[in-house]
Amino acid sequence: MNIAIDGPAGAGKSTVAQQVAKRLAYLYIDTGSMYRALAWAVLNNRVPIDDEAAVSGLLRESEIRLERERDSQRVFWNGQDITDQIRTPEVSQYASIVASYPSVREQMLVLQRHMAAGGNVVMDGRDIGTHVLPDADVKIFLTASTRERAERRLKELLAKGHQTDLATLEAEIAERDKRDMEREAAPLRQADDAVLVDTTGMTIDQVVERILKICERSGESI
Ligand code: DC
Repeated sequence: MNIAIDGPAGAGKSTVAQQVAKRLAYLYIDTGSMYRALAWAVLNNRVPIDDEAAVSGLLRESEIRLERERDSQRVFWNGQDITDQIRTPEVSQYASIVASYPSVREQMLVLQRHMAAGGNVVMDGRDIGTHVLPDADVKIFLTASTRERAERRLKELLAKGHQTDLATLEAEIAERDKRDMEREAAPLRQADDAVLVDTTGMTIDQVVERILKICERSGESI
């Protein structure tokens, strides 16, 4: 069974998807981390962000590897572990820009389908249910209010020692959502057959249980 979890920035996709994968003993694949890895490399190599050909060329020449680490995942760019460097607000904005390039998305789609080829995966992102795994057995569209998503990100970033505030994060999230939803190539949208889960006011455990129930029901009908 394959499970696709999509939704806007900060809806809790990664945490929830990781836990669902753990409970089912499935492989967890965080596709956002791949766009983040490319964004990090663009910054690191001083590639002009508005040059689509250069950005997509950089991806073509490089290797992104996701490695399982207990319940989470580590991200490697040409063999370098960059897991801890791809969560900054700057990388987030750049990731959303590189993700708007069709020539980047085409390459990512191939990589992501290859990673999921073995089956039994929980994959999270923006276009998993609509493009990457259109035949996924379970599709979840996870969302929450912008304020709550900003509050969650604030907690995460402060815990990691980054200095920021709620208003800045709320504005950044809104900007990223707009770009992710309005781009031409595979924009963020709920697949017709996805189940909407609004996590505003819900704990992570509650969301995980809810998704497991949805998977159970779907398993019964397969
Ligand atoms: O989920 P995230 O915040 O780590 O994703 C980073 C950016 O990558 C996000 O702004 C949108 C983009 N993305 C995408 O376009 N398609 C995906 N499947 C995953 C992420």
